[in-house]
Amino acid sequence: MADSSYLLGTHAEELERLRFQHELWLPAAQAAWQRAGLKAGCSVLDVGAGPGFAALDLARRVGPGGRVLGLERSEVYVAAGRALASAAGLARLELKTCDLLQDPWPNERFNLIWCRWVAMFLPQLEPLLAGLEQCSQPGGALVLHEYVHWDSFGLHPHGEAIRRFGQACQRSFREAGGDPDVNRRLPALLAAQGWRIEALQPLQVAGMAGSIAAQWLERFVKVYGLRLQELGLWSSADAAEADAEIAAAAPQAGSFWMGPTLLELRARRA
Ligand SMILES: C[S@@+](CC[C@H](N)C(=O)[O-])C[C@H]1O[C@@H](n2cnc3c(N)ncnc32)[C@H](O)[C@@H]1O
Repeated sequence: MADSSYLLGTHAEELERLRFQHELWLPAAQAAWQRAGLKAGCSVLDVGAGPGFAALDLARRVGPGGRVLGLERSEVYVAAGRALASAAGLARLELKTCDLLQDPWPNERFNLIWCRWVAMFLPQLEPLLAGLEQCSQPGGALVLHEYVHWDSFGLHPHGEAIRRFGQACQRSFREAGGDPDVNRRLPALLAAQGWRIEALQPLQVAGMAGSIAAQWLERFVKVYGLRLQELGLWSSADAAEADAEIAAAAPQAGSFWMGPTLLELRARRA
């Protein structure tokens, strides 16, 4: 039976897509953690941890004297993350099944809260804002990597079907109650809750056809295209057009991809 806990699904292809995506974005994540002051011995909350790829790296970073807790709604992903943590011998990493909108957040305060590609799926942001406040230590840091400008997604110069694919993605997120560009709203909402916004930084991926960035975005078109077809927002004819554009893209012709623009938001509790 399909796991309906996550719009993009929790099947093996999506799990593998998340792993690949994490590898691509790991240097940006590590730089963000560094700027937020992460060091050995810290406690970290990973909000919407997925199968725990970032949580595993965070646990390596904080070491045996630290602690990482990942909250995730999908039991499939929690089980996958626990298996990875056990195989890696990371006893200080805990992954817990938790629906951020319905379940109580932990009664525990952390030095750093990390949240990536999660707020965009939440139909309500109030439980997230309340949970972040509850779980942050005084002086604790919050780092969000969420999208701010999905319209920059594209294959240039001839990606007309890919442009329509990006629009269909955004529609699917909105129809499920989310907001693809949620990081346009979060700085103001956090500031109103007493967080001090320390830094805002756009994060953009671009790459020639054949690059790792191109592979990431092509894989997304393939995996999420099937889900969009189930949702009635994409057709097999659309998919064939998109495939043809991808096949025609060549680095020697100057074809390149751009991802949706992320915004790194770093905030601190008074
Ligand atoms: C795109 S994945 C990102 C996973 C991880 N943060 C990462 O950076 O790889 C989005 C994750 O948010 C989780 N999620 C969405 N809504 C949630 C909710 N209400 N409560 C807990 N997790 C949720 C999904 O199950 C999924 O694992």
